[in-house]
Amino acid sequence: MSMICNMSLVIPIAIAFAFCNSILAARAPSNQSEASVLLHSGWWPPSVTSNTPLPHCTWPGVSCDASGSVVGIHLTTDYHIGGNFSNMNFSLLPSLTFLQLFHTGLTGEIPLQICTLSRLTNLGLSNNFLTGELPPCVQNLTSLQALDISHNQISGSIPPELGNLERLTNLDLGFNALSGAIPPTVGRLHNLQSFRFNSNQLGGSIPLELGNLTKTYEIDLSCNNFTGPIPLSIGNLTSLTHLFLQENKLGGSIPPEVGNLANLTGLYLQGNKLNGCIPLEISNLRSLVRLNLQENRFDCAIPSEVGDLKNLNLLDLSSNYLVGTIPLELGNLKNMNYLDLSCNNLTGPIPLAIGKMTSLTYLYLQENTFVGSLPREIGYLRSLNYLFLQENKLGGSIPLEIGNLTSLTHLLLYENKLNGSIPLEIGNLETLSVLNLRENGFDGAIPSEIGELENLEFLDLSSNNLVGIIPLDLENLTRLSHLDLHNNSLSGSIPSFTNNSLLDHLNLSYNHLRGPIPDNLRVAFPDTAFIGNEAHRRRSSVILYTTIFVPLATVCISCIVLGSCFISRNATKSTQSEITKKNGDFLSIWNYDGRIAYKDIINATEDFDVKYCIGTGGYGSVYKAQLPNGKVVALKKLHHFEAEDPSFKKSFRNEVKHLTKIRHRSIIKLHGFCQHRQCMFLIYEYMERGSLFHNLRDDVKAVELDWSKRVDLVQDMAHALSYMHHDCTRPMIHQDICSNNILLNNKMQAFVSDFGNARLLDLDSSSNLTANIVGTYGYIAPELVYTMAFNEKCDVYSFGMTAMEIMMGKHLGDVISLLLTSFKEDIMLYKFLDPRLPFPRQNSVSRSIVLIVSLALACLSANPKPRPTMKQVSEAFLAQKLPLAKPFHEISLAQLRDNNVSWLEGGSTEVSSGLSDE
Ligand SMILES: *[C@@H]1O[C@H](CO)[C@@H](O)[C@H](O)[C@H]1NC(C)=O
Ligand SMILES: *[C@@H]1O[C@H](CO)[C@@H](O)[C@H](O)[C@H]1NC(C)=O
Ligand SMILES: *[C@@H]1O[C@H](CO)[C@@H](O)[C@H](O)[C@H]1NC(C)=O
Ligand SMILES: *[C@@H]1O[C@H](CO)[C@@H](O)[C@H](O)[C@H]1NC(C)=O
Ligand SMILES: *[C@@H]1O[C@H](CO)[C@@H](O)[C@H](O)[C@H]1NC(C)=O
Ligand SMILES: *[C@@H]1O[C@H](CO)[C@@H](O)[C@H](O)[C@H]1NC(C)=O
Ligand SMILES: *[C@@H]1O[C@H](CO)[C@@H](O)[C@H](O)[C@H]1NC(C)=O
Repeated sequence: MSMICNMSLVIPIAIAFAFCNSILAARAPSNQSEASVLLHSGWWPPSVTSNTPLPHCTWPGVSCDASGSVVGIHLTTDYHIGGNFSNMNFSLLPSLTFLQLFHTGLTGEIPLQICTLSRLTNLGLSNNFLTGELPPCVQNLTSLQALDISHNQISGSIPPELGNLERLTNLDLGFNALSGAIPPTVGRLHNLQSFRFNSNQLGGSIPLELGNLTKTYEIDLSCNNFTGPIPLSIGNLTSLTHLFLQENKLGGSIPPEVGNLANLTGLYLQGNKLNGCIPLEISNLRSLVRLNLQENRFDCAIPSEVGDLKNLNLLDLSSNYLVGTIPLELGNLKNMNYLDLSCNNLTGPIPLAIGKMTSLTYLYLQENTFVGSLPREIGYLRSLNYLFLQENKLGGSIPLEIGNLTSLTHLLLYENKLNGSIPLEIGNLETLSVLNLRENGFDGAIPSEIGELENLEFLDLSSNNLVGIIPLDLENLTRLSHLDLHNNSLSGSIPSFTNNSLLDHLNLSYNHLRGPIPDNLRVAFPDTAFIGNEAHRRRSSVILYTTIFVPLATVCISCIVLGSCFISRNATKSTQSEITKKNGDFLSIWNYDGRIAYKDIINATEDFDVKYCIGTGGYGSVYKAQLPNGKVVALKKLHHFEAEDPSFKKSFRNEVKHLTKIRHRSIIKLHGFCQHRQCMFLIYEYMERGSLFHNLRDDVKAVELDWSKRVDLVQDMAHALSYMHHDCTRPMIHQDICSNNILLNNKMQAFVSDFGNARLLDLDSSSNLTANIVGTYGYIAPELVYTMAFNEKCDVYSFGMTAMEIMMGKHLGDVISLLLTSFKEDIMLYKFLDPRLPFPRQNSVSRSIVLIVSLALACLSANPKPRPTMKQVSEAFLAQKLPLAKPFHEISLAQLRDNNVSWLEGGSTEVSSGLSDE
């Protein structure tokens, strides 16, 4: 016994479990042929097979029954098998009921011999490198309940024989290279609770036999090539909570039968060719939280019944052909956070009722034909960050209540018919960074209060009827890099812009400005075009037109002017096409129509002098640069030797390619990049507060990071990662989530940064292979120590680690192994929390802490399979938090851990606050 315990010290903890489980069985005489099969499999290292006198039943991951027959092999993650899957002679293991080899680096095909395992209940082979086809003989596995082959390279079609596995409850074939149609025999799997065929190349129509699967709560067929209509029989699936059909080629209309799915919380149909109307029966989906119908061909009015979906948090109907008006009933949706109706044919006025959606953070109504004036009730939307109303036909003046929107960062009203003067109240919008009122009929003077918007980076008031002088206060705007006032009737002299003397983009032409051009502006813009009074007397006395555009001798700069649709929704498509169109040697991108000059970067860093270097990351150095306009940016530059290395170059290009597609509130913004043989760098927004790690280490800063800020940090991180992992078009993993790579801005909001190791979670999983482990010690998922296969669950682990660190105030260190094994001494939650902060008294905060710690513990599971996905974590944060069933100080970590064990296997995607069922 003591020898066994000593040994368990040298093998990873999770294996030790299985190991100890098999101690009893080891007493029974072992079956010789089974022993030799295991010995010859090559799955256990010589240190196990030869250097130990122990019988095979005691090997790591092996379980035997009382007679010494092998019943389970459970080599998940901590064990690197490598080698070929077909090396195991399965026919000699007749008692095997459990075969789980997740993340073990297995290659080769699924051998036919596996079909002899008639007692097998669980077959889990996900996250390996298996190729070939799923053999039809799997039908012989008649005891099978769970089949998970996801994240491999299995090709061919789904064998119809699969339909014979009537006991199956969980079927996951996602992220493979399967083609062909779903065989109708799948309808025979009437015990199925979840099935995922997502991210394959499956086609044909969705078989109506699916309607037989009435116990199913999750169907994921997203990112395939399915055509034809959504079958009516979908309405029989009344247990469904999540239906993912997005990014296919489905046509026809949404069948009214969808209204039967009363438990549905997420309906994702975006990126298809669906048409017709949104069925009125949608009003029955009272549990619905997210409804995404973006980019289809719906061409009716939005039914007022949508207003019945009281739990709705996200409604995206953008890029359809919707007509009619916004139903007043939408105002009932008090939980709505994200409303996107942009790029449709909607008309009528913006209803006053919009002011009732007080949780709104994102409101995208641009590119429709809305008329009437902007209602004052807009002032109630105090959480609003983005208000996009451009390219409509709105009239009247901007209501003064706009000044109540104190969280606003983007206000886009351009190309409307707004008039009157620009309200002074706009000066209250302290967080505003982009203000675009171009092409309206505004008159009166430019309010000097605009000069108080110290976060303003982009100001476009061009093509209005503005009069008076350019307020001197604009000189206070040190971050302003784009100022366009052209085509107004402004008079007076040209301010000297001493603070922003090098605006990247300044256009004051077609006004009545007089007097001398300040010298600093002449110097700043040697290519400025001055056109004399005579030439344009009718409209202007002096025309000053400047746009900085510095061509390098050998390098061509292309600047992409990004429209609002890019920012709001079409990020993926527009960048992609722009990049392919303009894929020269050098390319620069801004997130709004500003421009950046290569020369400015070189000047600001004295050609990347080491004194501007603030850190060295995954594959380059990070520099801090203050551009001439005062804007501070961070630059990540590839080292020279790395720039020569094609693999680094590829990863740099990848990062550019993918980061430009990512637009998330909590992911660091890429402002631009240079991609040229001699110089490869990325331009990011600069984060004033530095890394989370530094803030937690410093006692003063750590206290400033109070509980509610920390809760927000964790949630923002979770949403960002969920976005990366599950944004269907190109899921991406970060691979280096740690407190050093979470940056904080001056409001202490979190931004995920350092995508140096990020990679696509591709079908082509050669990109998932890496020569060495990347990531930061202490945050790396345990399975990576033995395998080289990366998937999104590694990020989930690192997220769990970072979330715990935020709660505890320091890295978990060795406490992790205590937490996850036995809790010999159970730790009370409050004792575990960062002692530098006061005991959390607010109910909402303590609920959030309980939720965060219980989710983080689940994320830290040594086995990746039961770890929740980031989508589940993110959704758990968005769900309403139940009250705690116990006082906060009576909650222990073991209780939080044990309440959270069943994530995927148990089939529940719902998460409570952990203790509510006690
Ligand atoms: C599957 O079962 C059938 C009938 O029970 C048997 O004939 C066949 O050989 C089995 N296939 C495999 C690959 O074991
Ligand atoms: C539906 O399930 C029943 C058993 O519940 C089965 O008899 C029937 O054949 C199935 N239908 C299809 C089309 O698979
Ligand atoms: C999708 O289906 C169309 C025909 O319907 C076919 O031309 C195309 O190659 C398919 N794409 C993939 C990725 O399978
Ligand atoms: C779905 O339910 C309807 C009755 O509501 C039934 O007529 C139909 O056969 C069912 N479809 C399937 C595929 O089970
Ligand atoms: C719907 O959800 C409720 C509450 O979770 C559950 O009791 C009920 O059984 C579910 N309905 C179906 C058809 O699964
Ligand atoms: C939508 O608007 C566009 C442009 O205004 C127009 O060409 C198109 O016909 C309209 N479509 C519908 C369905 O009204
Ligand atoms: C705007 O804020 C003022 C003062 O805080 C308040 O009295 C008024 O009701 C608000 N109006 C709107 C429309 O939010």
